[in-house]
Amino acid sequence: MIGIGDLFDVVEIEVGSRCNRRCSYCPVATDPHPPVPVRMSDEIYDTLLDQLEAIQFSGRLSYHFYNEPLLRLDLELLAARAAESVPGALQILYTNGDRLTDERYQALRRAGIDYFVVTQHDNDSYVDRPFQTVQTGEALVLTNRGGVVDGLPEPATHVGTLPCYAPSEMLIVTVTGDVVLCYEDARRETVMGNILLETIDVIWRSERFSALRRALALGRRQVLPMCQSCSNTAHVEPGRSVVDEPLAFDRRGGHIGRDELKERASLARVELLRKPPQGR
Ligand SMILES: C[S@@+](CC[C@H](N)C(=O)[O-])C[C@H]1O[C@@H](n2cnc3c(N)ncnc32)[C@H](O)[C@@H]1O
Ligand code: SF4
Repeated sequence: MIGIGDLFDVVEIEVGSRCNRRCSYCPVATDPHPPVPVRMSDEIYDTLLDQLEAIQFSGRLSYHFYNEPLLRLDLELLAARAAESVPGALQILYTNGDRLTDERYQALRRAGIDYFVVTQHDNDSYVDRPFQTVQTGEALVLTNRGGVVDGLPEPATHVGTLPCYAPSEMLIVTVTGDVVLCYEDARRETVMGNILLETIDVIWRSERFSALRRALALGRRQVLPMCQSCSNTAHVEPGRSVVDEPLAFDRRGGHIGRDELKERASLARVELLRKPPQGR
């Protein structure tokens, strides 16, 4: 478990800024044209990976903010680059699964994606694959994304004083290299710094980021309008960012931890790399 002041345990990278779907509970649907580039530049991605390598990052690494990562047709290259720079990181791909063919699944597994979390937003059945969890849209515990999603409820009164450890555990890097306070910051308003100007550890330990982190851990959500309007209760205790990940189930029905999942995924990847790619 990590504590306030320690480094983050999760990194989410907005490798692109668009999605192919328009879910009613997603701010991309209500604001489809944010004034940001469609894809993250190589300069930003490489700079971030260099910085993660320098701190030997070994937590969860994912490729989304509100985007659909599979829209990046070179995602395999990004995953391979990450596998080389931060081999201890657990690469989890969150996806709507629309563009995930068996061939792409294999290619991404080979490149370094350890596990897939597919949300079937239409609640349909979905193909079963070994390193994949499928969740349905109707099973999601929806949050109102800092109050910007119309039609989702305002937080109940008691939520306003609940602690929030999301900014104590997760580093969110947007398509422009900005580090935002939280993955709920759909409008990219609470910027803590930019990785082209400062390193992630300097940004993470900055006075402003630290002060906001402390206030939120004490349940002072009024510290920011976004947090005051936010209905998210997924991080009210330290360590929930890891515990609540919808992954790491094993076929016998028990849940496994990140370390064991990483080991299993890595061993299976070695086997995969010994075989010629299928379906080509
Ligand atoms: C924003 S999506 C982006 C990744 C990908 N496009 C997808 O659909 O999974 C990341 C995660 O947030 C979940 N999600 C989407 N809207 C949500 C909401 N309003 N509240 C909570 N989770 C949500 C998705 O199911 C997915 O697991
Ligand atoms: S209160 Fe909501 S918006 Fe604020 S840091 Fe926590 S999860 Fe993010």
